[in-house]
Amino acid sequence: MNQEYEHEDPHGTAEDAAAATRRDAGEAESSRASRGWWDRNADEYQTEHGAFLGDDRFVWGPEGLDEAEAGLLGPAAALKGRDVLEIGAGAAQCSRWLAAQGARPVALDLSHRQLQHALRIGGEVPLVEADAGALPFRDGSFDLACSAYGAVPFVADPVRVFREVRRVLRPGGRWVFSVTHPIRWAFPDEPGPEGLSVAASYFDRTPYVEQDEEGRAVYVEHHRTLGDRVRDVVAGGFRLVDLVEPEWPSWNSQEWGSWSPLRGNLIPGTAIFVCERLDEE
Ligand SMILES: C[S@@+](CC[C@H](N)C(=O)[O-])C[C@H]1O[C@@H](n2cnc3c(N)ncnc32)[C@H](O)[C@@H]1O
Repeated sequence: MNQEYEHEDPHGTAEDAAAATRRDAGEAESSRASRGWWDRNADEYQTEHGAFLGDDRFVWGPEGLDEAEAGLLGPAAALKGRDVLEIGAGAAQCSRWLAAQGARPVALDLSHRQLQHALRIGGEVPLVEADAGALPFRDGSFDLACSAYGAVPFVADPVRVFREVRRVLRPGGRWVFSVTHPIRWAFPDEPGPEGLSVAASYFDRTPYVEQDEEGRAVYVEHHRTLGDRVRDVVAGGFRLVDLVEPEWPSWNSQEWGSWSPLRGNLIPGTAIFVCERLDEE
């Protein structure tokens, strides 16, 4: 779900030549890099992680926390008939689970190739190719919005995304999203013991950028501290209801990049923000 995946590429794509650095990257550059990276890497991502994600499961992150168990969008029984927007849906696995509960999901993603995988897997979920920063929906179109590592870690201006989500939600609507836990930015991206020693400042917000020989970003991730994320949620017009840090379960022996049982038992890997649209009393 983040940059480690890049370096695991066994097929030797063009990005092997990409140099990793920390530098500023604005909205347009980040969006362009994300679209290109996910289009080029969607096949491999789905091959590698498709079985873990399941065609119609709703998994919040590498720990394997399942929405069926967590109920962060509310009780599964209450999803029936609800309009749900999934942002950064990838192959729309979560949306398929939502549809199976009787909800009416719409799966949105920036990457054409990711959405082609959604078509390959099938199902009746409507797919929309768009950027999370400019949602092509009328105000008040959805009861709920969700995102499992989709879009939010990759955008330069998360508040813009949150304001868009707020706009398309109905009053009181819930917005639940997961991201890389901010604490991980202080540690090396390694699943083993070498990934357990602090190597960088948690407070350094400079984006992680991989760039080609011309200096063009081909992959970007943005770091926000936990406090930044809370402030962004509030600035976006939401109330924070819960912040879930899934613990690594004993049944999960599978590594996902640098998310591993070893590290997962010691430090959090995922942060899930449960928010509600704030409305005038
Ligand atoms: C780590 S994947 C998560 C997908 C799915 N939830 C999963 O767990 O496989 C991140 C997804 O976010 C999408 N994405 C990245 N930036 C985006 C943006 N600005 N707007 C919409 N989608 C974006 C990518 O194309 C990719 O499909």
